[in-house]
Amino acid sequence: MNRRSFLRSSIAAGSAGLAAPLLRAVPPASQAKLIQLNGNENALGPAPTAREAIEKAITISNRYPFADAAKLTAQIAGRHGVSSESILLGNGSSEILRLAVQVLVKRDPLVITARPTYEAVGRQATALGIEVKQVPVAGDYSHDLRRMRQSAESHPGESLVYFCNPNNPTATLTSTQEIQDWVASAPDDTSFIVDEAYFDYVEDAQYSSLIPLALKKKNLLVARTFSKVYALAGLRIGYGVAHPETIDRISSLTRLNWNALALVAASASLRDPNFVQQSVRSNRESKLIVTDTLRELNLSFLPSHTNFIMHRLSGDIRDYIKRMKDHGVLVGRPFPPFDTYCRISLGLPSEMKQYAALMRMFRGKGWI
Ligand SMILES: Cc1ncc(COP(=O)(O)O)c(C=O)c1O
Repeated sequence: MNRRSFLRSSIAAGSAGLAAPLLRAVPPASQAKLIQLNGNENALGPAPTAREAIEKAITISNRYPFADAAKLTAQIAGRHGVSSESILLGNGSSEILRLAVQVLVKRDPLVITARPTYEAVGRQATALGIEVKQVPVAGDYSHDLRRMRQSAESHPGESLVYFCNPNNPTATLTSTQEIQDWVASAPDDTSFIVDEAYFDYVEDAQYSSLIPLALKKKNLLVARTFSKVYALAGLRIGYGVAHPETIDRISSLTRLNWNALALVAASASLRDPNFVQQSVRSNRESKLIVTDTLRELNLSFLPSHTNFIMHRLSGDIRDYIKRMKDHGVLVGRPFPPFDTYCRISLGLPSEMKQYAALMRMFRGKGWI
C-alpha cells in the first residue's frame, strides 16, 4: 500500500466512529504529510531566533511596520557594506525581479535569459508584452555568455539580461569573473539582473557576489532572498541591491509591501550566529546521501552548488513526478527541454534516506 492509499484508508476507517466536526479537523492529504522535495526550501524550518521574534511581533501586527522595515534595511546594508539607499526590500525576491523588469528596459525592449532557468523574469517580461530570448545553457550547463552577449549586441533597442547564479534548476555556476567583465564593459542600453538566491550554499572559491559592482553600475541589480538558506519562504521577504538611483527608480513602483512578521524574522535570522552554518551543514549531508544513491543507481547528475540537484532519469519526468507523489514524495516540476531530468530539492538527511530507499524500490520496478 502506498502512502496516499494508506492515508485514504486510515481516514476512511476512522470516519466510521468519528463525528463530522472532528473529521473536518483531520487535514486533507495535506502537503505537510508529504516529503516536500520540490520547492528548494530549507526543511530545517525558521531559525529559533526568528520564531521567537515572530511570536513577539504578533502583538504589534496592528501597526504599520515602518520602523522595522528601516531597521532591516539598515541591517542588510551594514552586512553588505553599502548605504541603505542601495537596498530595496521586497515581498520575496520575486517582487524585486518583477519590478526590475518593469523599470530596467523601456525602448524596444528585449529580455535575455538562459534556458532552463528560474522563470519569474521571463514570465514577467511576457506578461508585459516584452520579447524574451531564451539562450540554451552551454555544454557545461553554465549560462552561454557568448550567445547571450551576441543577442544583446545585435538587438537595436534596450536589453535586460537575467543571470541566475547559481542557476535554478541546473544548480550550476557561471563564472563570476566573466559576468563581471561583461557587465563592466556593457553599454548603457544593456541592463543586468543577477539573482543570487542560493548564494549561501556555494562553496566554490571562485564564486563571489556581484554586489560590489552593483554599487558602481546603474544598469545592474542583484537580487537576494530570505526564502532559501534563511528558511522564510512562506513569509515572503527578499531584497535588491543596486546603485541608489536604480533603487529609487524601482522603489517608485512599490509602497508598504512589507509584512511585520517577515521583517522581524529576517532581522532575527541575520543576528543568529549559527543558523546559516547549520543549514549549510545539513544540506551538505543530504547532498551526499543523494549523490551516493544516484551513483549507486547509475543516474548521472549535474554538479550542485545549491540545495537541489538536477539528475537524469531513464523515463519521462511527468510519469516520475506522479509515481513519486503516489508514494508520498513531491519532486521538482518539469524544466523543458530537460524532460529526462528531475530537480530534487534537498530536505533533511532523514528525509533523503527515505527518498533513497524509494529510489531503490523504483529501480527494482524498472521505473527509473
Ligand atoms: C533563483 C530564484 N530566484 C528567486 C526565487 C524566488 O524567491 P522568493 O521566495 O524570494 O520570491 C526562487 C525561488 O525558488 C529562485 O529559485
